[in-house]
Amino acid sequence: MKKKIGILTGGGDCPGLNPAIRGCVYAAEKYGYECVGITDGWKGLLEGTTTPLNREVTEYIIAKGGTMLGSSRTNPFKKDDGSNVKKCLETFKKLDLHALVAMGGDDTLGVATRLYRDHKLNVVGVPKTMDNDLSVTDYTFGFDTSVTRAIEAAQALQDTGNSHHRVMVLEVMGRHAGWVALYTGIAAAADYVCIPERKIDTAHMLAKIKAAHARKRFALVVTSEAAELPEVGEGQSKREVDQFGHAILKDRGMGERIAGFIEKETGIETRHAVIGHMQRGGAPTLFDRMLGTRVGMKAAELVHTGQFGTMAALVNNQYVGVPLEKATGQLKIVNQEWFDVMEVMF
Ligand code: F6P
Repeated sequence: MKKKIGILTGGGDCPGLNPAIRGCVYAAEKYGYECVGITDGWKGLLEGTTTPLNREVTEYIIAKGGTMLGSSRTNPFKKDDGSNVKKCLETFKKLDLHALVAMGGDDTLGVATRLYRDHKLNVVGVPKTMDNDLSVTDYTFGFDTSVTRAIEAAQALQDTGNSHHRVMVLEVMGRHAGWVALYTGIAAAADYVCIPERKIDTAHMLAKIKAAHARKRFALVVTSEAAELPEVGEGQSKREVDQFGHAILKDRGMGERIAGFIEKETGIETRHAVIGHMQRGGAPTLFDRMLGTRVGMKAAELVHTGQFGTMAALVNNQYVGVPLEKATGQLKIVNQEWFDVMEVMF
């Protein structure tokens, strides 16, 4: 009888998950394993819901955004009495799994780390997040596609801003890290970028916007949904939290509030747009298809070689296994090196 690998995808979806599932299934089958999909992240392991996974059903998913397995933000450790974790362990046994490949960001992989460390479950992780804020790995898939989509949106805003001689503000996702806003701003030639890691000097921002508008009669600001600008208030943030304790930022309205502030302070007509979840769907870019494929394949190899408690990572352009514990708990956020880049660019 073939050994079985369960695969699940947890947390916010992103383009690249399907290529990663496919890469893992193809490699696992080559090593002689069979695979089964656990649906909707940790919720599926809790409830024992599965879907067939093999080469045939995954053949064309490489070109599709989202995840064919479904996802959720369920945290089995949320319930203190341990009953949910017990259910997960029972499902693992009932499905007769040899190993579990968990694809996710810091939250999903944090659960994987605890299941390995505290419950000796054969778990291997695959890093994903459009926020690109996971430690240890150079990049996470989802980021390239999301930023590519945000750049298109930014450039469209520049066109209309140029026609109407307005300031345009684009709000992008990125909960704790400003990578998406920063890369979008640089790559779309924005005039200013607001990220959560750096206190925004509003006098500086307004001066830059006025100068840009005086020179070319329009300006573009890219802001992360999580940027902090005391002058524009907190909006509806930090009240509702998800099962992992993260503030839900969807109603925070950072783009709208920054746009209002700019218009009030400069007198220049200003509009804003929120790209939101559009940046999380759609076909993955070449980079994300390849990165997803390779980390998915690496995860199968880590299972085959018995390297449990590790995560498939891209480190210095090499696909390697790194301890899950090292990859979780501390986010990779925008640092001084990039602040220096910002000084030059904006
Ligand atoms: O963590 C990825 C992310 O896309 C964040 O950038 C964003 O704040 C959050 O997920 C949105 O989550 P949801 O899809 O649950 O609204």
